[in-house]
Amino acid sequence: MPTLAAVLLLAGLLIGRPLRAQTSLLQNAPARQVLSLNGSWNYIIDPYENGFYDYRRQAFDQSATGRGGYYDNQKPSSRQETELIEYDFDKSATLQVPGDWNSQDPKLLYYEGTIWYKKSFTLAPQAGRRYFLYFGAINYEAHIYLNGRKLGRHQGGFTPIQYDITPLLSPTGENFVVVKADNTRRPDAVPTINTDWWNYGGITRDVFIAETPATFISDYKVQLAPNDPNTLAGYVRLEGEGKAGQPVALTIAEAGIKHTVKTDAQGRATFRLPARKLRLWSPQSPTLYAVRLSSGSDVVQDRIGLRTIATRGQDILLNGRSTYLRGISLHDENPLIPGRARGAGDLRMLLTWAKELGCNYVRLAHYPHNETMLRLADEMGLLVWAEVPVYWTIAWENLATYQNAEAQLSDLIATGKNRASVVVWSVGNETPPGEARLKFMTSLVRKARALDDTRLISAALELHRDGYQVTVDDPLGAELDLTSFNEYMGWYVGGKPSEITQYTFAIKYNKPVIISEFGGDALAGYHADADTRWSEEYQEALYQNQLKMLSAIAGLRGMTPWILADFRATRRQHPVYQNGFNRKGLISSSGVKKKAFFVLQEYYRQMARQYEGK
Ligand code: GCU
Repeated sequence: MPTLAAVLLLAGLLIGRPLRAQTSLLQNAPARQVLSLNGSWNYIIDPYENGFYDYRRQAFDQSATGRGGYYDNQKPSSRQETELIEYDFDKSATLQVPGDWNSQDPKLLYYEGTIWYKKSFTLAPQAGRRYFLYFGAINYEAHIYLNGRKLGRHQGGFTPIQYDITPLLSPTGENFVVVKADNTRRPDAVPTINTDWWNYGGITRDVFIAETPATFISDYKVQLAPNDPNTLAGYVRLEGEGKAGQPVALTIAEAGIKHTVKTDAQGRATFRLPARKLRLWSPQSPTLYAVRLSSGSDVVQDRIGLRTIATRGQDILLNGRSTYLRGISLHDENPLIPGRARGAGDLRMLLTWAKELGCNYVRLAHYPHNETMLRLADEMGLLVWAEVPVYWTIAWENLATYQNAEAQLSDLIATGKNRASVVVWSVGNETPPGEARLKFMTSLVRKARALDDTRLISAALELHRDGYQVTVDDPLGAELDLTSFNEYMGWYVGGKPSEITQYTFAIKYNKPVIISEFGGDALAGYHADADTRWSEEYQEALYQNQLKMLSAIAGLRGMTPWILADFRATRRQHPVYQNGFNRKGLISSSGVKKKAFFVLQEYYRQMARQYEGK
């Protein structure tokens, strides 16, 4: 009896519109043999969505023929151009991919709406091989087509998108992919209509075609069992005709591990192996093992760190040792070239600044960052808090909104589960307490635990205050492993840095306390006394007094002040101090370290001595 999905797929194929459900994400896709589609893509600005709807606002790709939209990439059939075709990708301008459109053309800086992208490529499909079209991220909603055929629609601006395009590749080898990218903000989206970062639109991360054998290793997890440094645990999954009952070999030569498992009828196999005398991963010693998985003709190689993370009372135990998280928050943006970070160069620069600050930890706010960022954190020895953009006033009552949030969380975990650096999955930021929100967030917490029992779960909670008495008793805190919250004493609360040390904290939960944000704006180079807002001296005094105030919290085990570097934010429009930038960076948008950078750097030197005897 064919499954519903198979029936829908067949129906779609018959009327020319394949309803190609997105295949589950290839684990470690960039490690495959890939054809990169990065580079120049032709684009068409389409604020009226003229390339998607007819003049009666009916979607072309839902019509009887499925044709008529820009995704046909139509060309005149004869030289005298008798047909009416009101677009031409090949004669249109180009955008660089990866890259948001806002930072590539001044007329697109504030653009919110649809832009169509088109890329032609040559790929002659080989028998016995499978081909997956893979986008690192498209913000925010994407409709994707190959050779005029719809692959699917995806929502969520920060997680990978992948389609099996094997049956749709042209036998001639000449192909084209068209993307309708739409960064319009919507109240029921995730994030919702209101955020404090720039709404960078477009194909913002790498695009490539990954090639595999017909039966291939689609997924795997290789980590230590929860809180057990002597046991390697995980699973491997095959996909394709011959997935059932197949041997899969796991080799970690330097750890003396060579083990073979056999897949079940669904192509899946789990393992649990003794692993003695491992060199555990840590920020001080970021050891990565060469891991090799093979099955039939397929081989996948990865570099994986092995470590444990747990809490005990108010301690965070990394490999069984109490650890203090010397962190900083950061957005996925290179302040020197504003726009979404484009690749390893931008990302390495950001993490190098964090290391210079004395960090062993970063908060990748407020959405899934580039997979490359997690790999760099593995290499450079930085612990990571990774997060989904369940941010501020989400549509808590909307089921589709929850499903969207859960899909983004699942993709975040699927992509990052083998990265030793990732120790915290965060389900959101500063969401206003309420019954519907608690239900929504609690469901996300439980989903995260079901997907990954080897990491801590948290969120940036809300607090409330009576004068100088601050209380943290957000009911969501009961579900989390860490008590994390944002507090802005001295910036949004109170008016002078010298008052900050009067605040005291009553925290309901006996868990490690991580301050997920504090900070204040400073315009680099603006100098005045410590009571003058926007000056570097005000920010410096704010940090000095914040650190004094926070040190009085008994369970304090880390922090990620807001934020490493100034970043573009549409809400920040003061013509002198902001100019469309949030200036809470410890580093300015031109790369200058402000005075507060050195306050935090000295504090982290002290904490490193206290916890690591450095
Ligand atoms: C909030 C929020 C950040 C924002 C910051 C600010 O806590 O989490 O995304 O940028 O405060 O107001 O600068």
